[in-house]
Amino acid sequence: MVAEDTAGSTRNDEAVTALKCVARLSELKPSGQLSRWVDDHDLLIFEHHGRVKVLSNICPHLGGPVGYHKKKDGRFTCLWHNFQFSADTGQCVNHPKLCLREYKTEVRGDEIWVQLVENT
Ligand code: FES
Repeated sequence: MVAEDTAGSTRNDEAVTALKCVARLSELKPSGQLSRWVDDHDLLIFEHHGRVKVLSNICPHLGGPVGYHKKKDGRFTCLWHNFQFSADTGQCVNHPKLCLREYKTEVRGDEIWVQLVENT
């Protein structure tokens, strides 16, 4: 279903309703990263170059937890087989065909909102 917003553009209702508050900045501040299940999504929420980013926490190799270790030198290292992923892009540096999904993210005050359906 398509709806018209106040600016007159059309947006997908499903995408609008899928924006969900998944964490608070005050929860993120102590370590700079956290992981959290929301609905069917395992989210890796972290600060990177002064902004909040959200990648999938599920390794596309065999499903290991990407955010188990703290980000180091701009990369996450999967717990299970040590594949590394760029925090900038989610791209695996060990295997060019593997990449973590990046979620559209908005910070509203102290709240971190994420679009859980397909990015549009
Ligand atoms: S499951 Fe992540 S490297 Fe194998």
